[in-house]
Amino acid sequence: MSTAPLVHRHRTAMVRHTLSQPMSLAVRHRLVREGTTVFDYGCGQGGDLRALSSAGVEARGWDPHFAPDEQIFEAEIVNLGFVLNVIENTAERQAALERAWSISRKALVVSVMLVGAVPLDGLRPFGDGFLTSRGTFQKYYQHAEIRAVVAQAVGAEPVALAPGIFVAFRAPEDEQEFLLERRRGRRASTSSYATGRSRKAVLARPELHERIEAALTATAEFALHRGRLPHAEEMPATVHDLLASERVSFARAVDTCVALTLDRDAFEQARRDSREDLLVHYALGALNRTKSAARPSPSMVRDIRTHFGSQQQLAEQALEYLHALAEPQHTVAAMRECAERGLGILDEDQRLIIDGGRIERLSGPLRCYTGCASYLAGDVEDGDLVRLDPLRKRLTIFRLADRKSPFPAITSSVAVDLRRQDVILRAEDRTLIRKSHVFGLPPRSKQRKLEAEMADRHGLGPDKVVVRSLMVLPPSASG
Ligand SMILES: C[S@@+](CC[C@H](N)C(=O)[O-])C[C@H]1O[C@@H](n2cnc3c(N)ncnc32)[C@H](O)[C@@H]1O
Repeated sequence: MSTAPLVHRHRTAMVRHTLSQPMSLAVRHRLVREGTTVFDYGCGQGGDLRALSSAGVEARGWDPHFAPDEQIFEAEIVNLGFVLNVIENTAERQAALERAWSISRKALVVSVMLVGAVPLDGLRPFGDGFLTSRGTFQKYYQHAEIRAVVAQAVGAEPVALAPGIFVAFRAPEDEQEFLLERRRGRRASTSSYATGRSRKAVLARPELHERIEAALTATAEFALHRGRLPHAEEMPATVHDLLASERVSFARAVDTCVALTLDRDAFEQARRDSREDLLVHYALGALNRTKSAARPSPSMVRDIRTHFGSQQQLAEQALEYLHALAEPQHTVAAMRECAERGLGILDEDQRLIIDGGRIERLSGPLRCYTGCASYLAGDVEDGDLVRLDPLRKRLTIFRLADRKSPFPAITSSVAVDLRRQDVILRAEDRTLIRKSHVFGLPPRSKQRKLEAEMADRHGLGPDKVVVRSLMVLPPSASG
């Protein structure tokens, strides 16, 4: 009789010196910040816990091997990081997921290993996964498969943070706020309100400004973030305490901020950006049938009223974006226009190749298109290269190593198939040839010859410089 092999699950836990990818995403998306409570379910050697605690996050964890005596607590954010994929028993996997969800008060972050992340050669099939030479078990999920598993357990569609990494929210309002924030995120750091004008104003009215400076700064930050002035209840208690101690009313503080602190041009830009963000956000909610879309947070309701007058007005204008997206000639025209503005390069197959850091600068309908891909696969990073292929309803994200090199290696790609709503992760072994090294885009027939020449000229092994589909970076991004 054959006995089941012993699986050493704990051997999968690595020593971490930095945050894991799911927790680092949670921090970047401000799901986790100072004062947030986090519970790390299956915390392994506790690397995430140490990193989070050192930044003022209230982090606790439990692990059946490394921390079996720790108590299991409820927390705002619960992390189930790369745990499901190491459990060989499907019932136990399900129980772990359910337990983790049951203790999350606001959101659960689930991550797993995906098919394509590592080569499977030499691994022994076992159950629905594989046994490794180290006596561990690994199940490699499809992105859509883990999405469905989480959706089933929590009773709602989770939001993708990256391939194989999802966050599921309890309250639709929190999900909506998160989705809108995510669309705003990239620009948050570029907003600046400390202008020369405000400094001059400080000199003109030093007393009031100095006394309530922190309140003016917080008000201006809010205004530049949402493109509108705040309501009293949208400001933290510290602002109200300061104003009360200085006997200044909230209305007067806002007026002072508008007159002295807020840069008018930056505020006008923030207003335009916020309108556009809401349009894209609303169009995507309709397109992806996001259930939480019907439940905007109170602050979003105010945004909509300020920027559009009513939800109805917003819906009508968002519909125009969606119509533009459905017409191939419109999307190609929009891509051509972006390429002409120097935002990317249109290749022979009418695909736009663009730096990840620039996709927020695409026009509204194209942002809806990239937003659909983010909804399925998670965020595009600044260092990525993105290929939009709306004619075939595809989008591919290429991850590059050593971007500054004249021949950056493409380490992996994430292909998002919008028609089939699927995401495929691939390990890659390709080299990116920059435009500055190719002197123009050669016709397809000459591509092979060019590749051989390039390999030869730069002493790169012929098997390594396989430029199967020639790609170019926008000129300004070339090193
Ligand atoms: C790949 S490690 C991940 C550890 C940690 N979350 C990280 O990202 O560094 C998987 C962990 O899951 C733990 N584990 C195994 N079975 C579990 C279960 N049923 N419930 C919770 N954790 C489990 C293992 O002990 C191991 O530490």
